[in-house]
Formats: sequence, structure tokens, C-alpha cells
Amino acid sequence: MIQVADRLKQVEEYYFSRKLREVAFLKSQGKPIINLGVGSPDLAPPFKASMLLRDSLEDEGANKYQSYQGLPELRDEVANFYKSHYNVSLSGQTEVLPLLGSKEGIMHISMAFLNKGDEVLVPNPGYPTYGAVAKLVEAQPVLYDLTEDNNWLPDFIALERLDLSKVKIMWVNYPHMPTGTNAPNKFYDEVIAFGKRHNILIVNDNPYSFILNDKPISIMRYNNAKDVCLELNSLSKTFNMAGWRVGMLIGNYEYISAVLKVKSNMDSGMFYGIQKGAIEALQCSAMWFVSLNSVYEVRRALIWQLADALNCTYDRDATGLFVWAKLPPHLKSEEFTDLVLKEHSIFIAPGTVFGSNGEGYVRFSLCEPEEVIEEAIARVK
Ligand SMILES: Cc1ncc(COP(=O)(O)O)c(C=O)c1O
Repeated sequence: MIQVADRLKQVEEYYFSRKLREVAFLKSQGKPIINLGVGSPDLAPPFKASMLLRDSLEDEGANKYQSYQGLPELRDEVANFYKSHYNVSLSGQTEVLPLLGSKEGIMHISMAFLNKGDEVLVPNPGYPTYGAVAKLVEAQPVLYDLTEDNNWLPDFIALERLDLSKVKIMWVNYPHMPTGTNAPNKFYDEVIAFGKRHNILIVNDNPYSFILNDKPISIMRYNNAKDVCLELNSLSKTFNMAGWRVGMLIGNYEYISAVLKVKSNMDSGMFYGIQKGAIEALQCSAMWFVSLNSVYEVRRALIWQLADALNCTYDRDATGLFVWAKLPPHLKSEEFTDLVLKEHSIFIAPGTVFGSNGEGYVRFSLCEPEEVIEEAIARVK
């Protein structure tokens, strides 16, 4: 047997990759599984975006390798989108880097900025990829606590007490997944000042700002952000294009160039038709967001009923594509979700997937139609 690299010993297979295999097996045994575990939007992308993708197949050069930086029109459209939706001015040609989904950006940024032994501040609970990727590049994740008592925001006093001399990157993600917390203005000013004080690159991962959220915010809107911040964004949830794999990185030219150095050695551009479709999606009018959120609002009200039926509590002011719910006292997340899967054939995510501070919580996705959620409620009742 050929030995795998040592770095693989540091990480486990992604929870959802493992669990969805189990769910698929149960389905193949005839179990009528309802999947409320994952956040893969079931609704259609903007119609015109799909049509452009289809029609662009006949464009000359559609089959060729594409630019490592994406089409200039795509970069300009991202800049227009940031101006009209976040009131942030960007140069499309130097401050935008299209990505094959924002997830790959987490790896590229880590490879561009982390040396072996560097430390990375990672939210607990948070998106598991930040910590896993830090380990893959032989850096050290340092978990920072987010707790309900502090409204799932970082405690900067506690952070200042840490030895930050080896910390190079801090991952932040507001609106926050999995809790749906929105950060106040004060947070953005504080985190930028923190980054500047300690020479830490602050990366805001921002894929949920248009889901059930009236006030989309970009960290780039705040003073001095371009000095120490990067922002990841994505069309996956905003335009139901998760499988198309379109994301973007926003930041100053020097940081973007460093990431491009990595990326241009790893892929050979995004398929032309997908870029054309993405350009169209980014031009959607306000109506797109109104109709998308009207569907999610109805679903969320039903998920609240399901959570009630399971004796869970939740914050009605939370945003995003999930409902984050607290279990009755003393119940363990994974035991609870395994039981719900076994007894009701409903898959929900245990909070512990997102870190130890997720113990005692579960996450429901809004990516199933009303009638399916109604069926879930009926099963539990
Ligand atoms: C917090 C967060 N960041 C990033 C991603 C990756 O999104 P994508 O690669 O589809 O843009 C996800 C996906 O679920 C997420 O929840």
C-alpha cells in the first residue's frame, strides 16, 4: 500500500459526505427520507440565466479554455452588483476574482497566505471547511467561541487575551451559518480594527446576505476594509446556482493577485456558458429577491412548526437558509438527529457538525418544498 500524505491524517471526510451516503443507503432500502440536512437550493435559477447558458453553447470559442480571471464582463458585473446591492465601489478589473464557488476560495486564500505552523482563527460553531483547509495546508486552526449569550458574535476582549503572534487569518461569516445571526455595524468596525492592530487578514465569507435578510452588508463598506480584508461571495444561494459553481473573491489588487497566483496553477478557468449565465443572474431586478424570499418565508414558518413539534426553540429574527434550533435541556445533538432519522426518516444536521459550541442545537434547511415540510410535521406529530 502506498502511504497517503501526513496532512490527510489531520482531517476527516466531510460529515455530510459520510452522512449522505448513509441517507442514500436508507433510501435504497425504501425509507421515505426527507432531507432537511443540507443547504442545496431546490428552486430554479433565474430563467434568463439558464437560457443564456444553453444558448451560449453555440458561441464561438465556448469550448475553449477561459481566462483564469474570468470574463472581463463578469468581473464588471460583479462590481456593478456590489455597487447596487452593498453600496461598495470596486474596480471590476483589479478587485474582483471569479471563483468556481466560494468554497474553493477558502483553499486558495489559505494556500496564498498561510505557512506551515501559522495560526488561523476559526469560528466555533462555523463552516467546517475553514478549519479543515487550515489543517490541509499544515497551519493550526485556533477556534474562537461564538455563543448564544453573546448573540453568536466574537468576544473581542477574549480574543485580545490570546497570543496572536502566529495568527495570520481570521475567518468571519456574517450573516452567520449555521445560526443565521446578522452582525451589527459595530462588529465590522471592531473586526477591521482588530485585523489592523494585529496584522491579521480578515476574511468575511458572505454567501447568505440575500436570504431572508433585509439589509445585505459587505465588510468592504467599512473604513479601511481593503487594507486587511477579503470577502468571499457566491451565487449558490442568492441565485439557486449551487451546482453551477460560481463564486467571487473581493479585495485589493495585491491580495487578489496573490490568490490568483495559486488559482491559476490549479484550474483553467470557468466554463464560458456558466459565466454568461452568471452575468445575467447578477443583473436580476429587486423582484428576484422578493419572490425568492417569499417562498423561504412560508417554508421557514413551517420549519418553525416542525421545530415546535420536536420541542425545540429558535430565534425568529435569524436570517439565512436555515433554522438553528435549541434542543430541550440535556439532549445531545447527534443522538437527537439520529433518532429523528430512525423514527421519522427525517434528516436534519446536528449542531456539532459545526463545532463543539453547536452541542445542544440542530440545523434545519429550507431547501425542501412546503408539502415536504408539511409531511415532516405530520410524521412528527
Ligand atoms: C458558510 C459557507 N461558506 C461557503 C459555502 C460554500 O458555498 P459555494 O462554494 O457553493 O459558493 C457554504 C456552503 O454551504 C457555506 O455555508
